[in-house]
Amino acid sequence: MQILTTVAELRAWRAQAGHVAFVPTMGNLHSGHIALCHEARNRATQKAGKVIASIFVNPIQFGPNEDLSKYPRTFDADCEKLQTAGVDAVFHPGVEELYPYGPQQYFVEPPELQNRLCGEFRPGHFRGVATVVTKLFNLVQPDVAIFGKKDYQQLKVIEGMVRDLNMPVEIVGIDTERADDGLALSSRNGYLTDAERAEAPQLRRTLEGIRSAVQQGERDYASLCERACAELDARGWKTDYIRITNRMDLQAATVDDRALVVLAASQLGRARLIDNLEIDA
Ligand code: PAJ
Repeated sequence: MQILTTVAELRAWRAQAGHVAFVPTMGNLHSGHIALCHEARNRATQKAGKVIASIFVNPIQFGPNEDLSKYPRTFDADCEKLQTAGVDAVFHPGVEELYPYGPQQYFVEPPELQNRLCGEFRPGHFRGVATVVTKLFNLVQPDVAIFGKKDYQQLKVIEGMVRDLNMPVEIVGIDTERADDGLALSSRNGYLTDAERAEAPQLRRTLEGIRSAVQQGERDYASLCERACAELDARGWKTDYIRITNRMDLQAATVDDRALVVLAASQLGRARLIDNLEIDA
């Protein structure tokens, strides 16, 4: 596996790569990221192409009080996992390589979706994600890029951006990989103490409870989510939101919507955990 750290090395690699499948990450890789790499490998192999992953902790998507400096960095272990998954190259630039002119001046501004759900609690986050993903797409020039449904709102932002800006890349969304007890795998799970780790699967159980209620005919989505929120907080969580939206544009679900998703973000100890579950009402 080739390790590329400069834009020049990446451009040279791209020029001879043919069809390219791309997996953007911030590193500290777990089997969720690796599932994306397997999907990329399968798609690339069908086209006799190459797989590239990126590992870059993108400063412009972190708020001033977020975990940028503490974000776990495990590059050597990450490379072993990528190599085993059949990844051909990893792009691992320093911050000065991607932001060489000081603070970024031009941004990709997502629509109002960026201010709802997680965006309400992380101002500027999705603008930072859309901007860095655009930069990475312009550098890697992938034919297909793989993202996780774990970050459902992020996937929607990327899909909308690629569609509205005519970016020549196919976006593929992959189901969330979970631990045996149901907890969605996340780099931030490492912030949990043992006791918090034992409690953490409650988030997924809460979403499953909401799904069963909806499937049994409950249509007062607001109070269903409010009750779930109060139950979580009574167990020591600090919940940012639990919302049932339609899957198309993540607007609040109406009683007529059938393709739904319930999305949640909640703080447990030092970790802000997110999860979601698609629901067919
Ligand atoms: P990161 O959090 O490292 O996630 C990289 C990719 O892995 C994302 O597409 C995310 O949705 C996916 N992923 C994370 N946990 C997963 C799980 N349990 N199952 C399946 N997929 C999972 O998301 C980012 O990085 C950044 O915002 C990035 C897109 C790289 C831009 O900086």
